[in-house]
Amino acid sequence: MNKKWWKEGVVYQIYPRSFKDSNGDGIGDIRGIIEKLDYIKNLGTNIIWLGPIYKSPNDDNGYDICDYRDIMNEFGTMADFDELLKEMHKRDIKLVMDLVVNHSSDEHKWFVESRKSKDNPYRDYYIWRKAKEGNPPNNWGSFFSGSVWKYDETTDEYFLHLFSKKQPDLNWENKKVRNEVYDMMKFWFDKGIDGFRMDVINLISKVPGLPDGTKGENDLYGNGFPLTANGPRVHEYLQEMNREVLSKYDIMTVGETPGVDPETAKLYVNEDRKELNMLFQFELMDIDSGNGKWDIRPWKLTTFKNIMYKWYEALKEQGWNSLFLNNHDQPRLVSRFGNDKEYRVESAKMLATFLHTWQGTPYIYQGEEIGMTNVQFDISDYKDIEIINMFKEKTEQGVPKEELMKSIYAKGRDNARTPIQWDASENAGFTTGAPWLRVNPNYKEINVESALKDKDSIFYYYQKLIKLRKEHEVIVYGDINMMLEEDEKIFAYTRKFENESLLVVLNFFDKEAAFTAPKKFDVNNAKLLISNYEIHELNNNFILRPYEARVYKI
Ligand code: NOJ
Repeated sequence: MNKKWWKEGVVYQIYPRSFKDSNGDGIGDIRGIIEKLDYIKNLGTNIIWLGPIYKSPNDDNGYDICDYRDIMNEFGTMADFDELLKEMHKRDIKLVMDLVVNHSSDEHKWFVESRKSKDNPYRDYYIWRKAKEGNPPNNWGSFFSGSVWKYDETTDEYFLHLFSKKQPDLNWENKKVRNEVYDMMKFWFDKGIDGFRMDVINLISKVPGLPDGTKGENDLYGNGFPLTANGPRVHEYLQEMNREVLSKYDIMTVGETPGVDPETAKLYVNEDRKELNMLFQFELMDIDSGNGKWDIRPWKLTTFKNIMYKWYEALKEQGWNSLFLNNHDQPRLVSRFGNDKEYRVESAKMLATFLHTWQGTPYIYQGEEIGMTNVQFDISDYKDIEIINMFKEKTEQGVPKEELMKSIYAKGRDNARTPIQWDASENAGFTTGAPWLRVNPNYKEINVESALKDKDSIFYYYQKLIKLRKEHEVIVYGDINMMLEEDEKIFAYTRKFENESLLVVLNFFDKEAAFTAPKKFDVNNAKLLISNYEIHELNNNFILRPYEARVYKI
């Protein structure tokens, strides 16, 4: 296995809008991040993935970019950015930026030109089509509700937007578009950044002809996803990008790739194919989804294990896994997979133990390290375009409000976007102004200041896990052997690399569970590397307490 810095590191994801406000406008900013770099360094993470900070009208909080080479006003200036990068490198922290090039903002100058006339030089930068018999060009529905097509009077045509109406899809079939993207990437690499997280990068190649998608009886729109995800030319484009840009720098790349299975994943991350280093898989994030993300189903631990093991097996020799249990688009992990009430601390630590002892690069989403939880706001307090559009569309269809609120509480993206709770002062110390999104009311109890004062806090547990990763290569490179595959309560596995072996035992629920380690492990003489409880007994049979986690060196 090839050793690489991005396999050995741990990533900390910053959602800039909600991280730290330095100027009292209620919006997180770059200077706020600079203020908190020592905090991140103290945690031990050595890579930061920074959400989009480019100039944007913020229809989708920066995922709608109108200038790829400039900084969003609310976040600061290019001088602030340069200082941030310098301060990060001074602390040996690498910077991975977001690359959002499936679409731009409709306020980008390319689109402003493109919509002017059919013969404008920028017309083909986007995907324009005529009406089909008085209807939009096809039946696809947008990720953010409604059709993917918006009619534009100026030229009497529609443009394609898989996300919001203000996020027109770029036309990757146009080599000029690809060159613009590659030049822009070089601009940032030449500044010294260390990688890109690539937003929905597997959607950039659409099936030619853009045919209708299949549509169920009760669906408002057809399903365009299979006709846009992993499209016919996506690997050609990524190989070209690798040849022209990525291969020239010592950087890391991670693709955000919804709808990729482990076999398809190999095509993106097999080192010999020279595309990407890692990708984010969404099979685990869909474990509790029925018909779409808002339809919530109970999940089973055996399914969880199977998904994780399948991905491990597929990529262990042909690529690399990235590991995450939440991010800015997902609910808080402790609320979703743990218990955010009675066992908040125990379950947050148990889930972290899993995340940091599986094979792959762990990603920590801001606030996870202090066990931040989901929220339940009034509908009028939500800011996320996905939530707002879904609520409106489904209300119009007659779906009861209580049902919609239940889904939003469980899955809404604003769960993860509430401001970081720095201390117990007003607005959790995030801002001196009015926060752009309400602070989670539990900030007096859950905040960074109190975590740093408590030696048993979730924060210090993460710190210890990250330190262990640096001390034990087996955590990074070790093979995985599953135990108790059929067990619905306990997740247990061993790791092995050269002469070192680990035994990891995790109780995923709030009831006690008995565990017997095979005789060959001799737990009596094993060294306990980390646990979220005090451990007294020293033998191969033990009872795991609610959400108990143990890692032994055997
Ligand atoms: C995925 C991003 O993570 C999400 O926040 C965004 O809304 C969409 N891509 C569109 O850019």
